[in-house]
Amino acid sequence: MKLTALFSLLALGELCWATSLAGECKCTPTDKCWPSAKTWKSLNKAVSGKLIRNTPPAISCYPGPHHNKKECASVLKQWSNSTFQSLDPIGYIYPTEELCLPVDLAAGEKPGKCILGQAPVYTINATTSQDLVAGMKFAQKHNIRFVVRNTGHDLIGKSEGYGSLQVWIKYLRDGITIDDKFKPSDQCTKSDWTGAAITISGGYVWRDVYNLAFPKNLTVVGGGDPTVGCIGGYIQGGGHSPASRDYGLATDQILEAQVLLADGSIVTASPCQNSDLYFALRGGGGGTYGIALSMTIKAYPSKPVVAQALTVIPLSSDSSALLNAVTDIHEAYPCINDAGFSGYGTWSINGPAAFIGNQSVGYVHAVAAMGISLDEGQKAFEPLLSKLRAVNGTQLFVSVDWFEFPSYPAYYMAMSGNQLPVGGSTSAMTSRMFDKQSLTGNRTALAEMVSTIAGTPEEMTLMSVVFTGGGAVKNHDPLSGLNPAWREAYMVQVVTRVWAPGSDAAIIKAVRQDISYKKNWAMRKITPFLGSYMNEADRKDPVWETDFYGEHFLPLSMVKQKYDPTGFFYCPTCVGSASWYEDLLPGREYGPLCATGL
Ligand SMILES: Cc1cc2nc3c(=O)[nH]c(=O)nc-3n(C[C@H](O)[C@H](O)[C@H](O)COP(=O)(O)OP(=O)(O)OC[C@H]3O[C@@H](n4cnc5c(N)ncnc54)[C@H](O)[C@@H]3O)c2cc1C
Ligand SMILES: *[C@@H]1O[C@H](CO)[C@@H](O)[C@H](O)[C@H]1NC(C)=O
Ligand SMILES: *[C@@H]1O[C@H](CO)[C@@H](O)[C@H](O)[C@H]1NC(C)=O
Ligand SMILES: *[C@@H]1O[C@H](CO)[C@@H](O)[C@H](O)[C@H]1NC(C)=O
Ligand SMILES: *[C@@H]1O[C@H](CO)[C@@H](O)[C@H](O)[C@H]1NC(C)=O
Ligand SMILES: *[C@@H]1O[C@H](CO)[C@@H](O)[C@H](O)[C@H]1NC(C)=O
Ligand SMILES: *[C@@H]1O[C@H](CO)[C@@H](O)[C@H](O)[C@H]1NC(C)=O
Repeated sequence: MKLTALFSLLALGELCWATSLAGECKCTPTDKCWPSAKTWKSLNKAVSGKLIRNTPPAISCYPGPHHNKKECASVLKQWSNSTFQSLDPIGYIYPTEELCLPVDLAAGEKPGKCILGQAPVYTINATTSQDLVAGMKFAQKHNIRFVVRNTGHDLIGKSEGYGSLQVWIKYLRDGITIDDKFKPSDQCTKSDWTGAAITISGGYVWRDVYNLAFPKNLTVVGGGDPTVGCIGGYIQGGGHSPASRDYGLATDQILEAQVLLADGSIVTASPCQNSDLYFALRGGGGGTYGIALSMTIKAYPSKPVVAQALTVIPLSSDSSALLNAVTDIHEAYPCINDAGFSGYGTWSINGPAAFIGNQSVGYVHAVAAMGISLDEGQKAFEPLLSKLRAVNGTQLFVSVDWFEFPSYPAYYMAMSGNQLPVGGSTSAMTSRMFDKQSLTGNRTALAEMVSTIAGTPEEMTLMSVVFTGGGAVKNHDPLSGLNPAWREAYMVQVVTRVWAPGSDAAIIKAVRQDISYKKNWAMRKITPFLGSYMNEADRKDPVWETDFYGEHFLPLSMVKQKYDPTGFFYCPTCVGSASWYEDLLPGREYGPLCATGL
């Protein structure tokens, strides 16, 4: 189906927006229109006592009724543990702004101010779809900003929202089932998938799915980090995985979904029913079209895996040999990917923290190929390794290790599947996809790009390379709403810089501008027609519509208008978000959500 066919799926009569008037804002706790305590009580009753009045996870460190030294010490200890954060309704992995950090009271640190900031004011700890509907109806009736959250992993601030009511789907758990042979729930004959399928009904994380699928020796395209949510932002925004080169991105695995819409109805999205919604869920971004209650995804019999770990560390303080090696690796990678390899790498000329043992300078990756022999794997790497060996011991220390695993689960458990620590709000990030041409077409241009993003040692820039494109990611599917640039992408480069907590506004601004413009534009220069991965991206990307969605932005906007005509589901950089702006509070980076009238 072409784009034009998709447009015709949308009834013309429904194309006009029905948003609020320009300047009309959502009610916030300081407004007269904010519901009274009694009204909130009635909501709590409607959800059988599952309403939570949110308090920051570190509130015990601050003076007031919640003060508790012992509790505070324990929060401080657990702060960078993502599991700890995800058990708190307003704990975040990469918060946009931290306005209530834990305090080391024992070391004599003095607590400053603690405020909720951009975190939702109330949470419904939902266990049924009726809880979600009750929350939606309440937010609609009282004109309150609404947020959908599962793990709170989002890096863009999509699961935050000043003055909002949040529904938390973590404990919505209607089970995970594995079928050896997929049978569409709606007898849809448009799917040709006859392999195994996994139905994930609720706020599960990939670890929950792996725990069931791996003992059956199944390969599932899920998060490299097992704490990522299954059916929310990850899968709806793309979802790269150690298995995506072989089977496509996570979003390409969606066979059908059950979705709760803004009007309270629950619909099936499949190639047969609401196929435009199905299109949008498959790559058009989370938190936008409705709340996914359940999804059925493909699963595959696993294959033996050959893996390689490569480490490159410079032997002097001169970083040119390292940059040269990084350029070699990038240039060689499309060919290595075509031979079957994919994985993840990290590099820096001076990282903000150690990332290779105790080293914070160098390049490291772990990559793997399914269903090839060790010999074939080594052959694919030989041209690159011979270049690196030529400077081994003189300019660089180069170490290569090879591994063989009987299955994908064995590989994942041994070499991937790491739980990453919590990130901070004091960082700026950007990302860019690279195709074969941009990596192999012009060595001089590639080396220039590598050198610019590496920056100066003082900048402490860190690069994460997502080597998970190519292969099956190239397969275009007409019912995929994913940014089409992904189909060309062999890799995504994620560039991050941090600043010290408490830095001057001018320093923060300079870092952000360096990331959004200098670093991003160095990459964009050699990849002008590609994009950025919306889930690992720059919150302040000035051209996010085309960078995150490409030519699918318009068709996705039409799906948004059809299924959520009032723009009820809002998140920053999500499709339809141009209907709203945040009226920033003085000195803050957030404020009430107001209509732009668009
Ligand atoms: C530690 C870590 C590891 C990561 N690893 C990977 C990786 O390997 N590959 C990769 O591609 N990305 C990865 N990411 C990025 C990840 O894809 C995004 O953070 C993504 O938004 C997480 O989705 P979530 O549903 O878990 O998070 P949440 O923060 O809970 O939600 C994110 C967005 O999805 C919406 N949402 C959540 N649930 C639903 C639902 N049921 N229906 C509709 N909307 C929903 C929310 O409203 C929000 O807009 C990682 C992030 C972190 C922090
Ligand atoms: C992280 O937090 C979880 C939940 O509180 C806890 O079970 C786990 O032991 C913690 N992990 C570490 C390494 O402290
Ligand atoms: C949310 O509800 C679940 C049970 O459904 C419970 O285990 C959990 O402790 C609750 N979380 C909070 C923060 O209240
Ligand atoms: C998983 O499947 C692979 C490939 O068929 C096979 O080699 C391996 O032995 C299987 N592992 C288990 C635990 O069954
Ligand atoms: C880093 O670790 C290695 C071995 O593990 C050790 O020999 C070296 O001294 C360490 N370097 C620093 C700077 O700590
Ligand atoms: C690089 O040199 C070291 C030290 O001689 C050696 O152990 C290592 O195997 C070499 N690396 C490669 C890729 O040959
Ligand atoms: C390669 O890139 C360099 C640097 O951007 C440029 O000057 C040169 O003209 C390019 N070469 C070709 C053949 O395009």
